[in-house]
Amino acid sequence: MPKVTFKSPLAEVSADVPTGTTLLDAAEACGAQVGHSCGGVCGCSTCHIWVRKGLDSLSEQTDAEADRLDMGFDVRPYSRLSCQTELGAEDILVEITEESLTAFMDENPVLRRSLEAEGKWPLKK
Ligand code: FES
Repeated sequence: MPKVTFKSPLAEVSADVPTGTTLLDAAEACGAQVGHSCGGVCGCSTCHIWVRKGLDSLSEQTDAEADRLDMGFDVRPYSRLSCQTELGAEDILVEITEESLTAFMDENPVLRRSLEAEGKWPLKK
C-alpha cells in the first residue's frame, strides 16, 4: 500500500492508502487540509495540489481535469486536482496549494478562527 504524505505550511500528515484511492480521499483519510468546494466532481479547482514526488505513478489526467485545472491559481507542470487523481503503487509527496488551503479554511470556519486567534492564519508571506 503506498504511503501518501501531504504537507503545507501548517502541517505534515501521512497515511498508507490503497492503490486506486483518489488523492482527495487519501487527504481525508489522514486529515490533510485539502479544500473541496464542489464535493469532488471536477466542478472547481479548490482541490488543486502539487505532486512533489511520485507524479508519474498517478492516474492519467483526463481532458476534463486539465480543462478545470486551467481555471486554478499558480498551476504548475506537477499540478493535479486531487479529486480526479488516483494513487498508483508508489509513495507520493503532495504539497497543498495556498488555493486549496484557503478553500479548506473557508469550509472550516471554526478551525480558521482558532488559527487566526493563534496568529497562524492567514499565512505570513
Ligand atoms: S473538489 Fe472540486 S474539482 Fe476537486
